Amino acid sequence: MKTEVLDVKNLKINYKNVIKGAEYLKKGEVVAIPTETVYGLAADAFNENAVKKIFQVKGRPQDNPLLVHIYKLEQVYDICKDITKESEKVFDAFWPGSVTLIFNKKDCISDRVSAGRDTVGVRFPKSEIARAIIKESGTLLVAPSANLSGKPSTTSAEHCYNDLNGKIPCILDGGPCLIGLESTIIDMSTQTPVLLRPGAISLDDILKVIPNLIYKKDLLSVKGNEIPKAPGMKYRHYAPDAPVTLVEGNYEKTSKWIEENADKNNAVICFEEFLKDFENYKHVYNLGSFKTLNVAAQKTFDLLRECDKLDVSHIYVQAPKDIGLGNSIINRLEKASAGNIVHI
Ligand code: TXA
Ligand code: MG
Repeated sequence: MKTEVLDVKNLKINYKNVIKGAEYLKKGEVVAIPTETVYGLAADAFNENAVKKIFQVKGRPQDNPLLVHIYKLEQVYDICKDITKESEKVFDAFWPGSVTLIFNKKDCISDRVSAGRDTVGVRFPKSEIARAIIKESGTLLVAPSANLSGKPSTTSAEHCYNDLNGKIPCILDGGPCLIGLESTIIDMSTQTPVLLRPGAISLDDILKVIPNLIYKKDLLSVKGNEIPKAPGMKYRHYAPDAPVTLVEGNYEKTSKWIEENADKNNAVICFEEFLKDFENYKHVYNLGSFKTLNVAAQKTFDLLRECDKLDVSHIYVQAPKDIGLGNSIINRLEKASAGNIVHI
């Protein structure tokens, strides 16, 4: 299959390409679309065959449910029930935006989408381009991140092309994603809201609106046979081919530890302030300053993917501090490292 890449960066100039992408979606095809968080692999949420194709294209396990993307608030009431006043306050605070909310689903959402659960995750993106694509498709779109299952999420059309060329007919190129980390997921179907995935909106900002939020760290990663709340969190994820060691702790000390333990041919991902420690290393990647974790968030998946292009035997990553977006970045890197974490 030939994959066409269509420019939708400027909606005024490129609207015809939004319509072309939407035509594919209407025909039951799968299309990679930009959002402000990461690219999504989109299909018509109400077309069973189209939904099935997403699982095939990604190699996604069938027990991993899909998020449904809407372009106007009313649509959440079409697909979900038992929406409380408390949830409506969360809509006011964060929607449209990079927070995904889980509710009890209505019957119109199929078991294939919900992977047999009684709930469905709803995402109302901030990106105007994403909303235009949903609107033009004339339906609602399921869209997991547009990467092959287990690989780092995609934050540019080029990343999508590398994973999906020949597998889907169309990639809509909206340029690099503004945030670069997936949405924050909160389960609103439980009596007290539960954080299922830290993400684009920091925990601190969520707690201002949902002070009773449950966010135990051990809910976020799952070992052995436990049943995870967010099924996707149980797989090794975001992972390049080479093993990753994540080094957490005081910045000076983590940089020193990496310098002492990494081979000069290994890849190192570190903050700008510590590049000087790795002048003799062959493959060093810059996360930006540790003072701008939003920049580090934008770069994280891209740098993991850059490392994948190299033939390196090991990747060492300097972890950000566990504050603000740092918390979400650490969550992704811990998964990429498959638990290979050094605390200093
Ligand atoms: O930013 C995002 O959320 C991106 C963009 C494309 O919108 N989408 C995304 O989708 O990250 P995905 O499928 O890669 O990650 C969604 C996560 C998975 O871990 C999945 O298991 C979980 O959400 N999930 C989906 N529906 C759920 C449900 N009903 N209950 C619990 N977890 C759910
Ligand atoms: Mg994903």
